[in-house]
Amino acid sequence: MPATSQAGALASGDRPRRSSSPKNSRGANGSSAGRPRSDEQAAQPSGPVDQPRAAAFAVLQAVSEQDAYANLVLPRQLTEAGLTGRDAALATELGYGTLRATGTLDEVLRRCASRELADIETPVLNLLRLGAYQLLRTRIPTHAAVATTVDLARSTGNARAAGFVNAVLRKVTARDFEDWCSEIAKDASPLGRLAVRYSHPGWIVAAFADSLGQAEGDLSDLQAALAADDERPETHLVGWPGRIERDELATEAGGEPGPFSPYAVRLSSGGEPGALAAVQQHRAGVQDEGSQLCALALASLPLTGPDERWLDLCAGPGGKAALLAALAADRGARITAQELHPHRAVLIERATEGWSNVEIQVGDARRLPPDERGYDRVLLDAPCTGLGALRRRPEARWRRSPDDLAELQSLQAELLAVALRLVRPGGLVGYATCSPHLAETRHQIEALLADNLGVELVDARPAFAQVPGTGGSPMVQLWPHRHGTDAMFFAALRRTR
Ligand SMILES: C[S@@+](CC[C@H](N)C(=O)[O-])C[C@H]1O[C@@H](n2cnc3c(N)ncnc32)[C@H](O)[C@@H]1O
Repeated sequence: MPATSQAGALASGDRPRRSSSPKNSRGANGSSAGRPRSDEQAAQPSGPVDQPRAAAFAVLQAVSEQDAYANLVLPRQLTEAGLTGRDAALATELGYGTLRATGTLDEVLRRCASRELADIETPVLNLLRLGAYQLLRTRIPTHAAVATTVDLARSTGNARAAGFVNAVLRKVTARDFEDWCSEIAKDASPLGRLAVRYSHPGWIVAAFADSLGQAEGDLSDLQAALAADDERPETHLVGWPGRIERDELATEAGGEPGPFSPYAVRLSSGGEPGALAAVQQHRAGVQDEGSQLCALALASLPLTGPDERWLDLCAGPGGKAALLAALAADRGARITAQELHPHRAVLIERATEGWSNVEIQVGDARRLPPDERGYDRVLLDAPCTGLGALRRRPEARWRRSPDDLAELQSLQAELLAVALRLVRPGGLVGYATCSPHLAETRHQIEALLADNLGVELVDARPAFAQVPGTGGSPMVQLWPHRHGTDAMFFAALRRTR
């Protein structure tokens, strides 16, 4: 990832480079001959394998080389290595922390290694990132951070690079994190400085700034939004209406009632929600409170005429469909859950198990035939960049790019047109994204309204009345730093003819 992608040109969508083909490992000065003495020392045989660091390294490797999701790989690594308690916490902190900080760590490494990062083998680059993270972002003593990383190089089959790793990490120790950030961002704009300090790609910082209306002047809200992406998210549960009372769930789970959704329980201690009896008995599930609010908004906004047929147009894996099924059942309504991918339709089947008012359909929503009677309520929880859930996916900020955005934008517009075609005149469409990017949120709705297709904007705020700080528009934007939820966006539309 070039320096400009963070601190400079904020429109750039570059990701950290991956080097795929094996390359020679050479010293930090680019030469394999005449290594300094510390390199020779570093090439000594390794001590016992440090399991937490080995697990963190395995996660980095799986993310870099197999495009894996860290939140799926890490639990497997912890189990396989038998890591629990403090060791598991260390592996998690090092794995997730390094992934989140990758952009800024790479800028530091670029200044410490005389070789291009693209010329460094992926495992060696990941070792360097892991070492640099420990040096700059943890309280692990310098000698331990360097020595354990060098040991890890040896124990993971990268012994030839041990001297290189040692030499580069020694250079990293020349400054602390704040100092490195000042150096990297010395010519950057205020947004560029935040991109480096909070290790986000420039285009994401710009998108958050636009959405928060904070492009210049006081940037404290933007700063808080970026910082929230590095915090460990609380687990939220939903206690499905008709199956469990919220207070009962809170007591069983040892959590607190969520502040906004009448069905939410927040677990600050993490833990294993899958082990809860209420979850095993399918009376409760794991669902972000912001997602619950979007489903509730669709179900609760006023509607004239029949209220019997609901459609969830992009329903997989079925979180919102399950809550909608419970709410619809209470009203005698039925819900159709549409999903493109068969494997995700299976997940909807599991999520909605036990509700007999759900019909699951597999296929592209854009190919759905016209519905003569029309649906009364339609939810379009659209495929999006997911920039609103970066705290849950440590690597996601470096995987996404503005190219994804362009593709998603046109899909979202097509799906919005389908939703409006399938809703009956007078019926409601709820448009939700797990992204605050204006191109996926407000601009989509504004473009649609400008086309004057017999659609009007419905004020969604009454459905979020208990939620402070959602902005002054009839469209609602939630934020992790304000609400402790994902950055969900919700707008409501009514078809007028
Ligand atoms: C943001 S997710 C929906 C999340 C879901 N509402 C929930 O709460 O669990 C978007 C879903 O839309 C699906 N999808 C993407 N394109 C689609 C299309 N053309 N037709 C139907 N589903 C589509 C994706 O596979 C994905 O499962």
